[in-house]
Amino acid sequence: MQQPLIAPSILSADFARLGEEVGAVIDAGADMIHFDVMDNHYVPNLTIGPLVCQALRDYGIRAPIDVHLMIKPVDRIIPDFAAAGADWITFHPEASEHIDRSLSLIREHDCKSGLVFNPATPLDVLRHVADKVDMVLLMSVNPGFPGQKFIPGTLEKIAEARQLIDRLNPEIRLEVDGGIKADNIRQVAEAGADTFVAGSAVFGADDYGQAIATMRRELEAAKSAR
Ligand code: DX5
Ligand code: ZN
Repeated sequence: MQQPLIAPSILSADFARLGEEVGAVIDAGADMIHFDVMDNHYVPNLTIGPLVCQALRDYGIRAPIDVHLMIKPVDRIIPDFAAAGADWITFHPEASEHIDRSLSLIREHDCKSGLVFNPATPLDVLRHVADKVDMVLLMSVNPGFPGQKFIPGTLEKIAEARQLIDRLNPEIRLEVDGGIKADNIRQVAEAGADTFVAGSAVFGADDYGQAIATMRRELEAAKSAR
């Protein structure tokens, strides 16, 4: 199992002070920054694009940036995000006509590639492209909005994905996104996840450092429970 990573989602940050906010969560112990891109087409909300990613790099953010594309189509924007400083680029298989090609395009631009599965999307396609995938991201809410409730059935799907990853390509990271808080992160880890997106649970806290440290302690406890 890979080293656990905590990735605060900037969807819950104060966008008027984004550079400062991202700097603050990094200083508070975050491992990477989860960057939610929405297009008011694939999902019913609209957020940020490559210009904002570039602005964070120009501001001095050095931490890995994990770009979660909730847009359709995906290929046109991949090179732009790579040039803007993305490290990871993940997309939803439903949003690409040619999944294998989109994954290759991400790697050709020196980024790590990932597939995102909605709560009702089966993991099937992973079997055919596991050698081209660096991360599997399981949505534990329907994508589009921060602050939603974790869908409990995701735990079973995490375990299924873990088995599949261990069999097909153990290098793949298993990330979970949506409704993760200090009181459920341990269960999510014990089900087999190693990368944890948390938006409202981090940016909604008065003390980012304390919020991340509490999650980290829960992850330590999960480790010793295995
Ligand atoms: C939802 C986004 C998530 C979201 C998570 O569509 O992909 O990354 O910001 O927010 P919380 O942690 O508040 O559920
Ligand atoms: Zn996300």
